[in-house]
Formats: sequence, structure tokens, C-alpha cells
Amino acid sequence: MPENALDQAGEARLFEALRHFWHPVLWADELADGPVGATLLDEPIVVVRLGDGVAAFRDLCVHRGTALSLGWVVDEQLVCAYHGWTYDRDGICTRIPATHGDNIPRKARLVRYRAAERHGLIWVCLSEGEPAMPIPEFPEYEDGAYRLIKIPSYDWACSAARRIENFVDFSHFPWVHEGILGDRSRPEIPDHEVTRNATTLRFELGVEEPANPLKADVADGKVQRQPSVYTLSMPFSVHLDQPLPDGRHFVLFLATSPVGAKRTRSFTWNARNYQLDPSEDQGFVDFQQAILEQDRVVVESQRPEELPIDLTQELHIRGVDRVSIDYRRWLAEIARGA
Ligand code: FES
Ligand SMILES: [Fe+2]
Repeated sequence: MPENALDQAGEARLFEALRHFWHPVLWADELADGPVGATLLDEPIVVVRLGDGVAAFRDLCVHRGTALSLGWVVDEQLVCAYHGWTYDRDGICTRIPATHGDNIPRKARLVRYRAAERHGLIWVCLSEGEPAMPIPEFPEYEDGAYRLIKIPSYDWACSAARRIENFVDFSHFPWVHEGILGDRSRPEIPDHEVTRNATTLRFELGVEEPANPLKADVADGKVQRQPSVYTLSMPFSVHLDQPLPDGRHFVLFLATSPVGAKRTRSFTWNARNYQLDPSEDQGFVDFQQAILEQDRVVVESQRPEELPIDLTQELHIRGVDRVSIDYRRWLAEIARGA
């Protein structure tokens, strides 16, 4: 086998198994009166508000295969742009304008998916059965003490698992983010436990960071942080709560969407309960975007683009890479249908 050969069959099973989970596909405020197209796990889908709910369908009219995302909404129903076939929120065709009478074939119904609006995002699950896990939690979204800002969504040419592993990889801070999140003269990673719960991996780690006015540091130099609490909700979301002095919290909620096996869209909320003035927002966005651009270059270079779930691929250092090891093991269980 070539040196970094991938367990192709295992990766394909994982890709298929991902249909059983909720994934974010759009910011909720991107979805106004009309339908919007998106791609999830290589499947073109259309998302639309019909009445007081959100519906998701395969983006394909059953008449002639036209993209329904070209259509529009009339009386809480979705109208196809080509011949006006009209579908209700269950995806059942209720009107074929060209026919006289009510001669609608029984098979005239769309492939419908589960859809939900939560945390300012639209989530979709492609499987017919119950989703394997609930939508991840983000308590600060409902907490009036926090100011929430969106980091503009971005697409990377990598798998969602590579993107998530990068977010929970601590030992790259001094190398990729020197002077911002780390220091090359202090590259060691403190020991940490990883706890597996029903749907999450939780771990805490306190790093030493360069002082940052966005985290209310006043002096220059380095700051030893209290442990940040990471909650990785399987498969592709992470909640990071970084406690700062005097009850301040810097929070990131990252929810990623597996557009395809090698393409990932990331949605990020940044929440804070200090420096609440909106004039401060842009500094927080700029800070995230500077870090993200440093990460993107490295992550998009990784081969294979998939995160190998076979632990004999790539090398893992006990202790340092603990989170990655547990994460990959869990993905392998999902691939096996466990
Ligand atoms: S293709 Fe949609 S109505 Fe004909
Ligand atoms: Fe990074």
C-alpha cells in the first residue's frame, strides 16, 4: 500500500453514515421569503420557509428535474419555476397548472428531509429515520448577557473532520499562530483528560497566550489562562468556553457542514459577556479571520483530505494527540454503524 493509503471503504461508510446526523446548511437570516439551495453530503437540497416552519427537499422537481431553488413561494407552498407545479410543506404536489381538473399523479411528491431552525442556523438531516444525535447545544445563544456576532461563513477544501480536528488541536498554536495564540519557546501541551459522554467529547485545557485586548488584557506579555472548556458534539460542532478574569467569557460555537467529502462550510458564532458595545464587534471578527486564514493554508494542504479513521494511518503522540485519537475512534464507530 502507498504510505498514506486511506481505508477507502471505511471512509465511504462514514460518509454514508453522516446522513443520520443534523448538519447546519445556512444562516437562518439567509433564508427569507424564497427558497435557497445548498449542498449537503453531495446532495443538492432546497430549503424554504413554508408557513411558520422550515422545510427541506431534494432540489429537484419531480416533473422535469428542475432545481426548485429557482422557484418561489405562494400561499405557503413552493412553486417550481419551469411549469408551476406547486408543493405543500410535506412535499406533496397540490397543483399542476397545465392540467384541466385535478389529475395529479400520486407519485408527484418531493423527497423531503428533516429541517429545523436552531441557534440562528438552519439544520438538515438527510436520513428517513430519527437523527442519531440531537442538534448540539449553544446556551449563550439564548442568554441575554451575551453579545453574539457571526464570523462570516467560509468554505475550505478539506473534510469536515479535518476542519474539526484542526479546531481542537492544541499543539499547532505556537507554530501556526505564533504571537497570536502561542509561543514557539513554550510548545509543550499540558496534560489533559478527555471525557466521552453520550454525544460529546469534553476536555479542558489552559494555555499561555499572548495578551490580547479583545480578552480584556491590559498589559503586554503573556497570560496564563484558566482552562478553556471544549465540548465537541459529534460529529462536527465544537463549543469553546474560555473563562477570563472577573467572570468574563469568550465563547466560540463552530458548526461545520460537510458539503462533500472534501469540501466544508463553517458557521461560527462568537459570544462574549464583556466589551458589549457593537463598535467592538469588528475587532473580534478580524481576530478570528486572521487566525482562520493561517489555519486554512495548513488544513487545505493535508492529504488525504479525509481524516483517516484508521489509527494506523498517520502518527499519534500519546497525551498530546489524545483528543484526535478519541475523535477518530468515535468516527470509526459511526462508520461501523455503532
Ligand atoms: S420541471 Fe418543475 S414544474 Fe415542470
Ligand atoms: Fe488554528
